[in-house]
Amino acid sequence: MNAASATSATSATRKVVVVGSANVDAVIELQRFPVPGETVLGRTLQWLPGGKGANQAVAACRLGVPTVAVMAVGDDEFGRQVLATLDAEGADTHYVRPVAGPPTGLAVVSVDDGGENTIVVVPGANASLAPSDVDGIASLLQEGDVLLLQLEVPVETSRTAAAIARACGARVLLNAAPLGGVSAPLDDLLALTDVLILNETEARLLAGVPDHQDDADWSALAAQLSRRGPQAVVLTLGEDGAVVHGPDGGWHQSAFATDVVDTTGAGDAFCGAVAAALAQAETLPVAVRRGCAAGAFAVTKAGAQRALPSAQDVEGLMGGVS
Ligand code: RIB
Repeated sequence: MNAASATSATSATRKVVVVGSANVDAVIELQRFPVPGETVLGRTLQWLPGGKGANQAVAACRLGVPTVAVMAVGDDEFGRQVLATLDAEGADTHYVRPVAGPPTGLAVVSVDDGGENTIVVVPGANASLAPSDVDGIASLLQEGDVLLLQLEVPVETSRTAAAIARACGARVLLNAAPLGGVSAPLDDLLALTDVLILNETEARLLAGVPDHQDDADWSALAAQLSRRGPQAVVLTLGEDGAVVHGPDGGWHQSAFATDVVDTTGAGDAFCGAVAAALAQAETLPVAVRRGCAAGAFAVTKAGAQRALPSAQDVEGLMGGVS
């Protein structure tokens, strides 16, 4: 494939359907994170559109792939802003439901001087996204399309969507984030997953590996997780790239070196880019390579959605090679 067509929409392009969360992010910049029991002063506060589902939908849109958002927001000003942002990015928002009662999901995102973040999410309306909200995707999904899921909406809703996607011949991508606080069993969802994407922390949690074990064998862990159902497991390792265990064995994708300003949304950039590439009928190795480039681009700017790359940005980082 030549560089010019590497990440643009082609005649083979299908769609990405994201069933997931939409939040408003209260982003606080601070010098360093407080330790438990400590109060520190922040430097700045900004209100930005976020949510892993919405971020990943925007990531796919920016890469030129038709994208449908299936989400729930509060019937409030934040909900209207989040919806307007998705519309402005070109996502199909017919399946975004404003719910009466709970407020739009809120994430408190703290970013320190090293660009690292901590995030606390209050699900709000995201918790109202019900299995009945995803019934309609049966008429949307076809063979070659991609369903993209995360864990910020009820697991039963994601499982229902995954079952529908499988029946339609679409591919199911699950970003197992966040895992902390998810108490529902994931086995049925993992069994319906084609590609599982998760970071080191999530992989340890899902596999039950103690986090004080520094010498984790990521390839073995990816292989272990694939035995729970997914055909491929993609383990993102930040500046060490990604380790993949697929049907034909495992491999490592190197990272693209960039200067880190803010890591918020890097995982979403990765997932959106992988989903977009698979919807463009690319292979998993090409998709993971683009995902690494998209993630590397996203850390160079502050904010989750603001930092998401265009197809040209991704091509630029990859040096024109798909
Ligand atoms: O992945 C980053 C996102 O996680 C933020 O936008 C926040 O809303 C949380 O969902």
